[in-house]
Amino acid sequence: MLKTVVLVSGGGTNLQAILDAIAQGKITDTEITAVISNNPNAYALERARKAGAEAKVVRPADFADREAFHEALLAAVNEYAPDLIVLAGFMVQVPLCLVRAYPNKIINIHPALIPSFCGKGFYGLHVHEAVLKRGVKLTGATVHFVNEDLDEGPIILQKAVAVKEGDTPEILQRRVMEEAEWKIMPEAIQLIAHGKVRVRDGRAVVSES
Ligand code: GAR
Repeated sequence: MLKTVVLVSGGGTNLQAILDAIAQGKITDTEITAVISNNPNAYALERARKAGAEAKVVRPADFADREAFHEALLAAVNEYAPDLIVLAGFMVQVPLCLVRAYPNKIINIHPALIPSFCGKGFYGLHVHEAVLKRGVKLTGATVHFVNEDLDEGPIILQKAVAVKEGDTPEILQRRVMEEAEWKIMPEAIQLIAHGKVRVRDGRAVVSES
């Protein structure tokens, strides 16, 4: 059983896609041990509770400084001794101490085709605003391992999504979620749960059989 902790900050539609995929048997041998949010008002916490998963808040404002928050987040994660940590709309840059404690065990969903539209400042709706401004015709989503450099870890899965004339950032965000994020995130977890993803020479290799 792949013990999984999911880190969230907001609405939690990716978390919901994971919970639904487990309920439908599309993800097997995996349990969501806990959902941890930096934001006490995240609707994702409600989704976790409804699915019977433990929901926990670790809020920066409750700590003297950033380092203390990072240590508390690491301690909260360690409590569950996870095999996998999933960042599902987690809008905090992952603390180095967490990355170092869980090498190649943290995955993130990014709402663009990395290495485009990623890195500092590229998160949430900002990504889709930048995509529309540049006028690219294809965007998409990426699931990747998290390493010490922002959005630079080994890429596990990507899916392209068309940009359409008349798209607003909100419309495009929704299409990227529906057509890409909610599919490739559960797929990646299922692959990892069954030992089908290896990291070799800084690249993720996915075996199909
Ligand atoms: C998703 O689009 C996710 O890809 C993005 O935030 C949204 C969260 O939505 N993540 C990032 O931008 C991380 N850099 P959700 O809370 O409904 O899953």
